[in-house]
Amino acid sequence: MNRIRKAVFPVAGLGSRFLPATKAQPKEMLPIVDKPLIQYAVEEAVAAGITEMIFITGRNKRAIEDHFDKAYELEAELEAHNKQALLDLVRQVIPKNVTCIYIRQSAPLGLGHAVLCARPVVGDEPFAVLLADDFMDTDGAKPVLAQMTEVFGYEKCSVLAVQDVPRAQTRQYGIVSAAPYRPGLELVSGIVEKPQPDVAPSTLAVVGRYVLTGAIFEHLENLGAGSGGEIQLTDGIAALMRAERVLAYRYAGQRYDCGSKLGYLEATAAMGLKHPETAEGFRAFLARLAERANEQANEEGGHGGT
Ligand code: UTP
Repeated sequence: MNRIRKAVFPVAGLGSRFLPATKAQPKEMLPIVDKPLIQYAVEEAVAAGITEMIFITGRNKRAIEDHFDKAYELEAELEAHNKQALLDLVRQVIPKNVTCIYIRQSAPLGLGHAVLCARPVVGDEPFAVLLADDFMDTDGAKPVLAQMTEVFGYEKCSVLAVQDVPRAQTRQYGIVSAAPYRPGLELVSGIVEKPQPDVAPSTLAVVGRYVLTGAIFEHLENLGAGSGGEIQLTDGIAALMRAERVLAYRYAGQRYDCGSKLGYLEATAAMGLKHPETAEGFRAFLARLAERANEQANEEGGHGGT
C-alpha cells in the first residue's frame, strides 16, 4: 500500500487543562478565529489526499459529529435569507468524497488505546494520526501531514513529526533518540514518554502528527498500561521501532500547542493577524495594547524614581 487513505483523530481526551471550556465539548471544537481545531486538522488530512476520517470519540462526542454532518435547519434558514456565502461556508466544511467514521472509546485509557480503537476500520494498512490540539501553520506552504505522507511515499515506513524543545519541557512530550539518516530525517533508536529533563535522551520531541504502519496495532494490543496507568502510543512505537524502521521527521511549519491556554492564545493571535476579516483591526488593537503597556511601564518606572 503506497498511499495513505485513512486518518485517525483521537478526540476522546478529557481536556482537563482547558476546563471549564471543555466541560461539555471536546477541546478539538475550540475555534481558532472562526474554525474549530478539528476542522483545521481534517483539512490538513484532506490536503494529504486522505479520504477516510476516523474519529475516536468519548463523552461529549456530539459536537464533532454534528460539525461534519449536514445541518438541515441552519441551511434552510440561510437559504431562506439568501445568505449564499455563509451557506457555502457551512456546506464546504468537508468535501463530498470524504467519509467520516466515528468510534467510541469507552474510557479515556490513553492515546495508544484510542489509536487501537481504530484497528477494526484501519486494518493492516498504513495510516495517519493527527492530534488536532497541535495546530500546525505552514503559512500557505505544504501542510505538515502532506510533507509526511510524501516521506512515507519513498521511505515506506512509519514517520513521526518531531521538533526540538527546550530541555526543561521534555516532561511534556515523547522524546526520541535518533541518528542522522537523510536531510530532515533521523532514524529513531529509542523513544520514551515524558522523561524528566535530567534523564531525557535528547530534546527531540514527538508532536501530534504520525504516519504509522498497520503493524503498530499488534504492538499496542500487547502492551500493558504505561506511564500514568494509560496505554501509551509512545510505548507502542518503542516496540514497533524494534521490529521495523521508524523515522523522525523535522517538519517545516509553526506548531501551537492548543491544548494549553498560552499556545491557544498564541495561535489565535497569529491567525487573527492573517484572517482577512480581522487582520487590520486586530493589528491596530495589538498596537494600542503595546502602547498602553509601554505607557504603564514608563509610569511605573517614573514612580519608582521618586
Ligand atoms: P492529551 O495528553 O492532550 O490529554 O491527549 P487530554 O486529556 O486531551 O488533555 P489534558 O492533558 O487533560 O488537558 C493527547 C491526545 O490524545 C487524545 C486527546 O483527545 C488528545 O488529542 N486522547 C487522549 C484520547 O483520544 N483518548 C485518551 O484516552 C487520551
